[in-house]
Amino acid sequence: MKKEAKIRPFWYSDVWLFPKLITIVTSLDKDGKVNAAPYSHIMQYDVMTKNPRMIIGFRQDSHTFQNICATKEFVVNCPTADYLDDMMETARFYPEGVNELDHTRFTMIPSLHVKPPTIEQCPQIAECVAEEIVRLDKSSGIVIAQIKALVFDEELIEMGREDRIRKMNLPIGLGDEDRQDYFHTTIGGHLSVHQLGEAPGSTRGSEVRLSMAWDADALQSLMTIPPMVRKMVTDQTEEYCKSRGDDKVTKARMDAHAVEQGMTPELMERFQKKKKTA
Ligand SMILES: Cc1cc2nc3c(=O)[nH]c(=O)nc-3n(C[C@H](O)[C@H](O)[C@H](O)COP(=O)(O)O)c2cc1C
Repeated sequence: MKKEAKIRPFWYSDVWLFPKLITIVTSLDKDGKVNAAPYSHIMQYDVMTKNPRMIIGFRQDSHTFQNICATKEFVVNCPTADYLDDMMETARFYPEGVNELDHTRFTMIPSLHVKPPTIEQCPQIAECVAEEIVRLDKSSGIVIAQIKALVFDEELIEMGREDRIRKMNLPIGLGDEDRQDYFHTTIGGHLSVHQLGEAPGSTRGSEVRLSMAWDADALQSLMTIPPMVRKMVTDQTEEYCKSRGDDKVTKARMDAHAVEQGMTPELMERFQKKKKTA
């Protein structure tokens, strides 16, 4: 038997179970004073490399939202589970102008592209600049922000996903009860991997429609691209070739377009290797 639950204030946190990434956002007020607070209402917005963006939701009277409205720049810092107590310390309602990090073990280092500081102990960081701010009526302030840089502890950059997941040991927020007790878990403990296969009966790449000629190498390369993005790659590559007056997609043009989109030959090779072993 199912029963409808009441949609109460804070339903997203204490009614609906919404496991979420925990971040600490650092920002500066108009006088340059540092502010830090945890935020979990955060997601990718534009996933392409041309204009990568995140979307973040804030209480409109929070210091962080007010700072972002005033100074635009902020840093999203992902703490490891070892720092959950310190993260919670930054959630307390300190008066305006207080740097919450002074009450924690966290230390600050300069960011690469923006003025607000980076938290040294956080292995994964996004430096952002607000591009669009939406004030929902009597509700959240939504910030769509350009990602100026994704920054990691150096050792993580070349690490495979599984090792990186274990090393980072990021906490996951599981919401709160009555705004008092906050529940967390970590992703470092139990980890399962499920492989995404082709759907039964589907022909690889059958969903792709070509609107112009492709040479054999380009076509072969297209078939190594995961099915879920193959149509998008096809459309964008053809548009790119047409804009250059080509009547055929060549492998060289395809590679040039891929590099412009941030898909380097090394990255493409990773997909191809996966396909061979699958
Ligand atoms: C794990 C965690 C996640 C949170 N996520 C959000 C969030 O996404 N949006 C929000 O408005 N408040 C969120 N909060 C509450 C703010 O961190 C809290 O109101 C804080 O005092 C705001 O500080 P500030 O006024 O310095 O920005 C979260 C709190 C915790 C502990």
